[in-house]
Amino acid sequence: MNQAERAGLTQRQLDSYWMPYTGNREFKSDPRIITAASGNYLTDADGRQILDSLSGLWTCGAGHSRPEIAEAVFKQLNKLDYAPGFQFGHPLAFQLSERICDLAPERLNRVCLTNSGSEAADTATKIARAYWRQSGQASKTKILARQKGYHGASWGGISFGGIPANRKLWGQGLETDLLNHTWRAESVFSKGMPEQGAELADELESLIALHDASNIAAVIVEPFSGSAGVIVPPKGYLQRLREICTKHNILLIFDEVITGLGRSGAYWGAEAFGVTPDIITFAKQITNGAVPLGGVLLGEEIYDAFITKGGAPHSVELPHGFTYSGHPVACAAAMATLDILESEQLIERVADKAPEFESKIHSLRGINHIVDIRNFGFAAGITLAAKAGDPTLRPYEVALECWRRGVYVRWGGDTLQFGLPFKIESDEMDRIVSTVAESIEALYPA
Ligand SMILES: Cc1ncc(COP(=O)(O)O)c(C=O)c1O
Repeated sequence: MNQAERAGLTQRQLDSYWMPYTGNREFKSDPRIITAASGNYLTDADGRQILDSLSGLWTCGAGHSRPEIAEAVFKQLNKLDYAPGFQFGHPLAFQLSERICDLAPERLNRVCLTNSGSEAADTATKIARAYWRQSGQASKTKILARQKGYHGASWGGISFGGIPANRKLWGQGLETDLLNHTWRAESVFSKGMPEQGAELADELESLIALHDASNIAAVIVEPFSGSAGVIVPPKGYLQRLREICTKHNILLIFDEVITGLGRSGAYWGAEAFGVTPDIITFAKQITNGAVPLGGVLLGEEIYDAFITKGGAPHSVELPHGFTYSGHPVACAAAMATLDILESEQLIERVADKAPEFESKIHSLRGINHIVDIRNFGFAAGITLAAKAGDPTLRPYEVALECWRRGVYVRWGGDTLQFGLPFKIESDEMDRIVSTVAESIEALYPA
């Protein structure tokens, strides 16, 4: 019997679901079924308690199945399950937006709400393009981004995303160009931000020379690249990107779907890295993963460019939105999440404990096949040496061995990835680190 059968699933049910970003053949031959979750632990179909080293998918920093969020969602469902978001409003969407603006870097004081990080990236880049058109510079349409960047799975995300495997199936996307990523062989095993490499940002000048600023709407980057395995920018790099964007009148967008709302040890990566972009996207942690919600933060100068050219008062200034933009239930979950982050001082906790995590994760240096370790806040990535010419094989094998040993570790490309729960205890950090070490040693004895 496999876990699907033990969870009561039939083969037909298993076959029916085409799972996202999953090796469906591998998964269905040996399913891993999660049936419950609480705090820092997942429960699988065998009733095992599995330590969650990625907070779901970078989503559930405050711990799984928080009763405060469940209660807020339940109350909201009973009071107002849905309100049409086009031409009508409900109080929570406005209250939540104000609250997010209060937490944001000063210039960013307007919010659009979406349902996911992909929609947030699409919304941010659509607004960037439309902003220039509204400002009389309609040729500014290109979106520049970065290799190894991840911005979601929609047409925007696959066009300006920089993870090769996510692009190759789809053919022509939007007009984009990509900066080099910031991983450098000289900087392996850097703790936090690498000292060297700020000049990598100067490549943006070359791309601008190639395309001309008159054709470029925005540059979108993650403050650190999350899905590519936590690639942390060198000191001074993001500042330099900011300066170049300002000099050439190009909007800078930070995709903070992973780095935002605590993961970096601050509310925003922008704050942690000391660089304010023109637009920030967020999702995931905003509802602690309980209900889908994302959004875009921007400044009033962008908002006003639409409002002042809005035409007749009843006409729509930005023809964009989703049926579920600002869904009341998602807003309720977000309000409850922000209450928890504040009242339990979880962001401060991440900042306090990040050095402990840094030293523990770097203690894995020297284990066979580990060729790099990177970290920032409560995020870390480990690169493993390729096996049999396939860079993706070893991370998959190691992560599955960790799962068998009771720790959920995400693998992607040639990396293992960690996004700790914000309330993790020291002994749980130790367990994650020792499980990785023991798994590698068991799989590949010297
Ligand atoms: C930086 C970043 N942007 C966008 C996304 C896409 O978010 P979603 O999967 O909610 O559409 C992700 C998802 O992992 C992400 O890490």
